[in-house]
Amino acid sequence: INKESDSRGALIVLEGLDRCGKTTQCSRLLSHLEELGHSVESWRFPDRNTGVGQMISSYLANKSHLDDHAIHLLFSANRWEKRSLMESKLRSKTTLIVDRYSFSGVAFSSAKGLDLEWCKAPEKGLLAPDLVLYLDISPEKAAERGGYGDERYEQLEFQKKVAQSYRTLCDSTWKIIDATRPVEDVEKQLKQIVMECVLTCQKGKPLSQLWE
Ligand code: TMP
Repeated sequence: INKESDSRGALIVLEGLDRCGKTTQCSRLLSHLEELGHSVESWRFPDRNTGVGQMISSYLANKSHLDDHAIHLLFSANRWEKRSLMESKLRSKTTLIVDRYSFSGVAFSSAKGLDLEWCKAPEKGLLAPDLVLYLDISPEKAAERGGYGDERYEQLEFQKKVAQSYRTLCDSTWKIIDATRPVEDVEKQLKQIVMECVLTCQKGKPLSQLWE
């Protein structure tokens, strides 16, 4: 039985190492869904436009120093400041394609050695994605793609640790995609998985919360 009130947009998250191709795929998914007439927006975290986002941005550019716990909580706060907007978009049937979310938060901070459960705690109560698309690529291959910029985390040794942390977070909502395949192949695969998810949420699926 489809309760009209449960019909909503889908919360779809793309995750992966730096240079895995997330951002390209997010924009392709956005145009695909738009062309099909769906209401859809593309979001990203960190959202550098908010006050908290500007602090994060300056940290990532190595223009400021922050304790590892403090920056972790800022990344999390940056998601919390968008939570209610996120919920209202989804309830008003807009699908959100999100470039990075809590999984990045936990993977990157725990890669620095912070306790995994401590890292997850501030994310509890954020909306749980309907689908997490993990663009899988080895840290070495990602590094070969070039374009590692000057941002703080864009270093091979650190990315190796992040890849390991991601592995501990993977659950049944995740789909692991081989990101070493040609962009068009990846795109085709993602479109198919995403459409299925969008339709399920359209038919009606309750929203749930992360890690509770
Ligand atoms: P971006 O390159 O996708 O804008 O992300 C900036 C960096 O921030 C990237 O190296 C991943 C990292 N990050 C965290 O450490 N914690 C988080 O919660 C998020 C969303 C990103």
